[in-house]
Amino acid sequence: MRIDFSFNTLAVTITCTAILLLVSFSMVLMPPSVDSMVRGPVRVPSDEITWQNYRDYVVDVDFVNSTHIFNSIYAVLRQGPADIHPLGVSYFPAVIPKGTLLYRAGKKEVPGSFEWLAMDHEFSYSFGSRYSSYGRKSLKIRSRKPSSKTGAGAGLGAGNSPTGGPSPNGPSALKAATHMMTFRATRDMNKFIYLDGASAAKSTTGEMDTQELLYNVLRKKFEEANPGQNKMPERDFAEYICKWGKPLGLDGLIRVEIGFEIVLCDFQKDNIELVSNIPLRNPATELGLPSPSVISVENGWPVENNQLLEDKLTDEQKKILEKEYYWQSILDNYSLARQYNWLQAGNAHDQGDKRIKIDYRHFVTGINRIPMDVNPMKRRLLNEHMTFELQSDIVNDLEEILKNDFDYTKSNDWQEIFDEFITKFSPMLKTIQKILHSDERTPEQIAVDVTKYTLNFVLRFTPSDKNLAELGYDRDFATYQYARPPTDLVTESDFLIWSAYVNIVDYVIEKIYDVNNKLMPIVKAAAQDDNSINGQETSIISSCREAIDELIGNLNWISLHYKCEESCDWDEICFTPSWGPGPLAGGFKGHQDTTTVGFGKHFDDASGRQVINYNLQCINIDTLLQQPH
Ligand SMILES: *[C@@H]1O[C@H](CO)[C@@H](O)[C@H](O)[C@H]1NC(C)=O
Ligand SMILES: *[C@@H]1O[C@H](CO)[C@@H](O)[C@H](O)[C@H]1NC(C)=O
Repeated sequence: MRIDFSFNTLAVTITCTAILLLVSFSMVLMPPSVDSMVRGPVRVPSDEITWQNYRDYVVDVDFVNSTHIFNSIYAVLRQGPADIHPLGVSYFPAVIPKGTLLYRAGKKEVPGSFEWLAMDHEFSYSFGSRYSSYGRKSLKIRSRKPSSKTGAGAGLGAGNSPTGGPSPNGPSALKAATHMMTFRATRDMNKFIYLDGASAAKSTTGEMDTQELLYNVLRKKFEEANPGQNKMPERDFAEYICKWGKPLGLDGLIRVEIGFEIVLCDFQKDNIELVSNIPLRNPATELGLPSPSVISVENGWPVENNQLLEDKLTDEQKKILEKEYYWQSILDNYSLARQYNWLQAGNAHDQGDKRIKIDYRHFVTGINRIPMDVNPMKRRLLNEHMTFELQSDIVNDLEEILKNDFDYTKSNDWQEIFDEFITKFSPMLKTIQKILHSDERTPEQIAVDVTKYTLNFVLRFTPSDKNLAELGYDRDFATYQYARPPTDLVTESDFLIWSAYVNIVDYVIEKIYDVNNKLMPIVKAAAQDDNSINGQETSIISSCREAIDELIGNLNWISLHYKCEESCDWDEICFTPSWGPGPLAGGFKGHQDTTTVGFGKHFDDASGRQVINYNLQCINIDTLLQQPH
């Protein structure tokens, strides 16, 4: 049954019958409840959601929870947005389609257990490239404690890093040649869980909460007496999650680092095959260089406490250092380029990694389950409201959804739907805001300039005579036009997401109507030389300004706040900082540290942590020299 808006009488008759049927149908059908996001079959064909009845299907989700859902879905599989709002609180069912290539740098052998893979080979290559240093630098690197930060890869220890790579400590690194492996998905891998936000940040500030929640519950489930056998918490997370996921057919996790990284639970299953395994060539070998001199007392160097005693160097040693310094400077350039390429590969996914697909029907989230901070930089999945019981509920819901093979082709592509709305309304809202804040214009000019953007929108839905309007009109219809779901709503998660969307659309459109209704009298009065609102213009305009400022603030859309400061050149990228280890990451004392603030970030008092600057900067290879060493 479809509503037909033609004026054809026959169509109108059919439509009227359809409405009657629908109205009676929707009275029987209670709006679904959302105490659990996945339970119970609820299915409403998209055609049955009409402009008259759509509000009956909207489930209870308040505005803040709606924005959290809306903005989480906007950011899914997008590098920059995932870092801008790094505190993920949701589990997205994901599919990696057959034929997708996946990468890993590390040992020669295909892993026997769960291990990490990257979606971009630049990511693996940069992680895996650990070469010995020449001259003074070799001494400096050897003197570092193994736990100290040496850029990407150090965090997870030898052989355990997401994309592999031996330990970067000293010349021994040369001995273990890194292998670059490429795998191919031999079938649709349709049971992945994507963890949103900066879920590979290796931090304790909330970015890892989705993993920690699973770990909390699973530890209890498996009744392990001594949890935490591994050096890195996230290795424990992965171990338990894969153990739990095995009978459920879980392929693994997808996490956000710089680019997307996969924890594949089982390399021995039939879902992937090795298509290439290349022992990597060392750039120093490529340049024909000998191994670095080992600067040690045993080799006759004046070293004390890992320091070179400069005044005791022989002329010959000085010459060696000079030559090795030059070699190292060339190698450093290639090394920076590798890191830059990695950033570039991540940056290429600011608009999304289209190779991974989401089946939103089985979305599981903490949103609308527990109260959460309005501020996306303060919200956490594991906040004080998340009891162990609620954590278990989430794990149960995940077990439920994993009974399905995820199939993105049957799901509404909510991100695409939201994008359409955001792309259309962001320029309008920002333009209106700018005009309302302008000092040079008179109130009449402001009113005309703002209503230039609002009046046509409103008139488009306003009948000249309501009695003559056929079917849908006015604000309810305007909202319906954007909020109508293209594909059937079939799960409670679908209803939750859709309801959040209706709330957002409704709120934006309400404010547009509101501003228009407030400002049109000023324009009308000016046009008709009518003095009746004289003196009220300024307060009307300031109330509109407040309404729009509030709207833009409350929506928290990344597109409304974050922008590249200029258009970047070919050798540059518009850089969004990230939170895990990696080039330009900085802030290694933690994201709540006020002193070592990372590049492109600042400490925000309201959030109690570092946040990303609104102005995103263009960076190039040389910018990487600024990273803390
Ligand atoms: C490598 O890059 C740095 C920084 O851009 C530069 O100062 C240095 O001269 C370069 N080394 C060589 C050999 O080009
Ligand atoms: C979000 O949903 C939860 C659970 O229904 C509710 O307790 C909370 O008040 C809602 N709003 C916010 C801002 O958390």
